[in-house]
Amino acid sequence: MDKKGDFMVLKKLQTSIRGLSGEIEIPGDKSISHRSVMFGSIAYGETRITNFLPGEDCLSTISCFRKLGVTIEERDKEIIIIGKGFEGLNEPKEVLDVGNSGTTIRLLLGILAGRPFFASLIGDESIGKRPMTRVTVPLAKMGAEIDGRKNGSYTPIAIRGGILSPIQYQLPVASAQVKSSLILAALQAEGESTITEPSITRDHTERMIRKFGGIINKHHNIMKVNGGQKLTGTNIHVPGDISSAAFFLVAGAIVPNSEIVLKNVGLNPTRTGIIEVLKNMCADLSIKQSSDASFEPIGDIIMRTSSLKGTVIEGDLIPKLIDEIPIIALLATQAEGITIIKNAEELKVKETNRIDTVVGELKKLGAEIEATNDGMVIHGKSKLIGGTVSSHGDHRIGMMLAIAALLCENEVNLERPEAIAVSYPNFFHHLNILTQ
Ligand code: S3P
Repeated sequence: MDKKGDFMVLKKLQTSIRGLSGEIEIPGDKSISHRSVMFGSIAYGETRITNFLPGEDCLSTISCFRKLGVTIEERDKEIIIIGKGFEGLNEPKEVLDVGNSGTTIRLLLGILAGRPFFASLIGDESIGKRPMTRVTVPLAKMGAEIDGRKNGSYTPIAIRGGILSPIQYQLPVASAQVKSSLILAALQAEGESTITEPSITRDHTERMIRKFGGIINKHHNIMKVNGGQKLTGTNIHVPGDISSAAFFLVAGAIVPNSEIVLKNVGLNPTRTGIIEVLKNMCADLSIKQSSDASFEPIGDIIMRTSSLKGTVIEGDLIPKLIDEIPIIALLATQAEGITIIKNAEELKVKETNRIDTVVGELKKLGAEIEATNDGMVIHGKSKLIGGTVSSHGDHRIGMMLAIAALLCENEVNLERPEAIAVSYPNFFHHLNILTQ
């Protein structure tokens, strides 16, 4: 691979002798890294975080909490936070910039809703297109004063928090960001809140509350949270991000003559939809689960080249793999038969409209793929040719295209590859290790 100007030239992997081999340690989970900084900041005492993801999104979270007056240090690969409870957060003198991170802005709004001061939040161009009413409307119902562009729908957003009433709320969309934002506000409300989600979404916030000594009652999709709880600082080891591992799982499955090991991958059952799909598609993989699963389960995954079959991905499975759909679409181009992805309209409001960007970019490489209103239909097995494609500034589209390039007959010119640093700063280093 070469880097030329604003694009990267990616070449086909010569797989006649062997494909991908070796092992890599998957970097820290993005969702858990964000939450560990947030909970460390609102707890009392010291929190030490290891295997924190140094991706741009998580660095945006650190920068926002520093602006709120929290002491956050980096020492010997550990993040150390000195929390002084919700009360320890101070009115920021500067605008809080969340960069590209939806998790930062939505969860932060839940925290700020209960703080008696003013804050203003901005992000990059992509954040400016992502819907915020899904959190601003229920947070305003609880008592926060919030405004923003287009009646509080988009950044820039201004918030003045205060005394919050508890909420009884049924989420209209299956979103862990919305659920978590409301839980963080509920922790500051006067009384018990009940939050119901339409399908089970990632439960890192619920696990994190318990890890910090708090209580949340959860029965299937219904959560009850009492306000006024005091959280206590703790030690967090962040598991590897299954959403990052997904790119190499798929690479191992589709590149001929491959066998790779992905070490210390988070295997929280609310995130393992990709494993279910790989198994349904007849992928050759095995998992060695580690013994300590008390906080978040972790394991090593061994992936080998596979003869894949098309599948249908829909319903309650969607929230368990929502971030993996771009790379699953590539996987499906290399499976025999048709793969249908439906009930995934949430893809339209991710870092890009991922129905459009996945379908548009894979088509340019030669894939047979069509967009539908709520997903896509992929015909396999198709030969990938190559060409000029773009990440559109979306990290997961960039990584999916870099993996696709391993199979393309001709060179792939990847525009805007720098977006990948949002969630996987050492992605190309890991790709090099496995292709050596
Ligand atoms: C996340 C939740 C998901 C996911 C995002 C991270 C989280 O978003 O796509 O990458 O950390 O809570 P939604 O809540 O919008 O589905």
